[in-house]
Amino acid sequence: MAKVRKAVIPAAGLGTRFLPATKTVPKEMLPIVDRPILLHVVEEAARAGIEDIVLVAGRGKTAIEDFFDVSYELEDKLERDGKHEWLNSLKQIRSMANIISIRQKQPLGLGHAVGAAAPVVGKEPFAVLLGDEIMISRTDQQTVTEQLARRFESTGLSTVAVMEVPLEDTSKYGIVEGDVTRDGTAQIVKVKNVIEKPSQGQTTSRFALPGRYVFDAEIFEHIRNTKPGKLGEIQLTDAMVAIAKSKGLLATTFEARRYDAGDKLGYLMATIELGLEHPELKTSLRSYIKKLAEKL
Ligand code: UTP
Repeated sequence: MAKVRKAVIPAAGLGTRFLPATKTVPKEMLPIVDRPILLHVVEEAARAGIEDIVLVAGRGKTAIEDFFDVSYELEDKLERDGKHEWLNSLKQIRSMANIISIRQKQPLGLGHAVGAAAPVVGKEPFAVLLGDEIMISRTDQQTVTEQLARRFESTGLSTVAVMEVPLEDTSKYGIVEGDVTRDGTAQIVKVKNVIEKPSQGQTTSRFALPGRYVFDAEIFEHIRNTKPGKLGEIQLTDAMVAIAKSKGLLATTFEARRYDAGDKLGYLMATIELGLEHPELKTSLRSYIKKLAEKL
């Protein structure tokens, strides 16, 4: 079975939940302590053995491109000042994967953003990682993208990540329906249907899509055939229904900590929790939070 070597990271949304900050800065570039959200996502892909990453950007594209490019003035200054640790960390970011940046000219939905990467991805299977979702795995654990890629490679079926959410929260997500089996600790769903943000009572399934996928290249054909929905957006979930009906689609639960960093509360949670693990900050941040909690 073909190896998953490519990934698409959509990062062209308007980020309206984070206005006014996202008027000029793409939300994917907002920092969690000292690392942009996007760097966490790129790192996850690189750990899964992804070699080529297609970044789909809109406004603020240059900030994203520049981040993964050489900054001669900065690197020259760090070299002259003997700040080798910093210099090496910048070089390490550049060497994680080949970054290919393309533009989604209008934010016409996630399906449209993924479809824009078709000429670069070609006929290979590929991963999709939403640029505002952070998944943290221990170093001795497979990343979520790795868990999906390995299942694709062993079954030949497109495989997406799902997490169980309370029934009252299902209206915030794409929800997967199907027959459930187990493989070790993972629940595996043979997907029959995917519903985008179902209204109350529309489904009893609690398997929500948090934004990690591995697709057969056939998905591009289904995206091309997808008509825009109510808000003029081309939904990835519609193309997923089509691939579930043709070649088949699996969904699997995963092991990782997940933060919706495109949401203000999720962003703050990620900042606090990753701050508490940051070597320079953990001690002082912990004592600050303890003192603060006493006052609340
Ligand atoms: P979201 O729905 O979270 O992004 O899409 P958004 O539209 O920017 O969010 P709000 O609701 O306005 O705050 C999930 C991911 O898909 C990308 C986003 O950048 C985000 O990383 N996306 C979404 C695109 O690249 N293009 C789109 O047309 C829509």
